[in-house]
Amino acid sequence: MSAEIKFTLNGKKIVYNGDPLRRLLDVIREDLSLTGSKEGCGEGECGACSVLKDGELVTSCIIPVGACCGSDIKTIEGIRDTEKGQCIINAFAEGGAVQCGFCIPGMVMAAYYLLDRNPNPNEDE
Ligand code: FES
Repeated sequence: MSAEIKFTLNGKKIVYNGDPLRRLLDVIREDLSLTGSKEGCGEGECGACSVLKDGELVTSCIIPVGACCGSDIKTIEGIRDTEKGQCIINAFAEGGAVQCGFCIPGMVMAAYYLLDRNPNPNEDE
């Protein structure tokens, strides 16, 4: 099965031709060579693959690319050079919040999403 799916990725228009059931994560990493989003669990649980889809934080390992028709997708590559993205990345680095580093892009995306919605979160948030 093949389909033409158009979406925006980090501000760039993308036309994908292929299996609409392929995972968004695979299309981003393999077809579009943006390897910042990582695969951890592959089951939608760990968040290492997190991206923003139309402003919502989603796990790209369980989203079929066919569900992204007309969507605006942002990955870590799309936010890392923004003022907010840089601020978050610097805060993670200064706080030593890196562990092994593999899932950090997902954590940065989650922090970006949180601060986008709530610029002054409390500690629990
Ligand atoms: Fe763990 Fe996607 S890889 S949620």
